[in-house]
Amino acid sequence: MSSLMSSLTSSLHRAFSSRFFEFRLFKFRFFKAVSAVLLAASLLRAVPAGAESIALPPPPTGKEGGMSLFEALWKRSSQPGGDFPAGALDDKELGAILWAATGLNRGEKGWTVPMAMGLEPYVRLYVARDDGVFLYDWKEHALKEVSKENIRAKVGAQSFVRTVPCILILAADAEGLSGFREPDRTAFACVAAGAMTQDVYLAAAALGVGARYIHSMNRDAVAEALALEEGAFPLCLMLLGK
Ligand SMILES: Cc1cc2nc3c(=O)[nH]c(=O)nc-3n(C[C@H](O)[C@H](O)[C@H](O)COP(=O)(O)O)c2cc1C
Repeated sequence: MSSLMSSLTSSLHRAFSSRFFEFRLFKFRFFKAVSAVLLAASLLRAVPAGAESIALPPPPTGKEGGMSLFEALWKRSSQPGGDFPAGALDDKELGAILWAATGLNRGEKGWTVPMAMGLEPYVRLYVARDDGVFLYDWKEHALKEVSKENIRAKVGAQSFVRTVPCILILAADAEGLSGFREPDRTAFACVAAGAMTQDVYLAAAALGVGARYIHSMNRDAVAEALALEEGAFPLCLMLLGK
C-alpha cells in the first residue's frame, strides 16, 4: 500500500512539474516575443521618419591582424580628461567600436554583449559629433540620424567634455526593459552599459583611440537632446578621440 502511495505521489509530482515547466516556458517565450516586437517599434520611434542612414564599414574579423584581446587588456585605460585628443574617428574606427559595444556577432540574434534572457539590446547607443546625433542601428550596422544639432557642448558636466570630437551616449530603452520591474530594470540596464563600455575601452585600446567613461553629465539636457520617451533614461557617456 505504501509503495502504491509513493509511486502515485511521484507520478503526480512529475506531471505537475512538467506542466509547471511547460507553463513557465510558454510565459518566457511569450514575453520574449512581445519584448522583441516592442523593442523593434521603440527603435523605430527613436529616429525621425525618413532619417538619413549612414552605412558603417564591416567590423574587423580578427583575421586582419591587429592586437590580441590580452594585449588590449594590458593597454586599457582612461584617457586623462585634460589631455583628450581632438582628432575625429573615421567610419572604420567608429564602426568597429560601436560593433564591439553592441554589434551582432551570431546571425540575427546574438550580440557582442550579453542581454537578460537573450533579449535584443535594451540599451541604446547614440553618437554625438559635430555633424549631429546618430543612433547606432545594430541590425544594419549603420548610423541613423536623430538630429543635425551639435550637442557636445551641453551633455557633460565637466568642461573638457565640450571639445571631445566623438561622444557616445548610452540610454536605457523604456520598451526594451518594460518586462522587468525595479530593482531588476535598472540593474539590467547598468549591467548592459558596463559590458558595453568595457568593450568600447578594449576596442579603443586595440585601435589606438583614446577613451574615457563619464558618469557626470547633464541628464536633463541629454534626455531632451535625444528626445527620450518617458521611462527611458541616460546611463553614461564614453568619450572618444585620437
Ligand atoms: C562608474 C564610473 C564613473 C566614472 N565617472 C567619471 C566622470 O564622471 N568623469 C570622469 O572624468 N571620469 C569618470 N570615470 C573614469 C574614472 O575616473 C577612471 O576610470 C579612473 O580614474 C580609473 O582610471 P582607468 O580607467 O585608467 O583605470 C568613471 C569611471 C567609472 C567606472
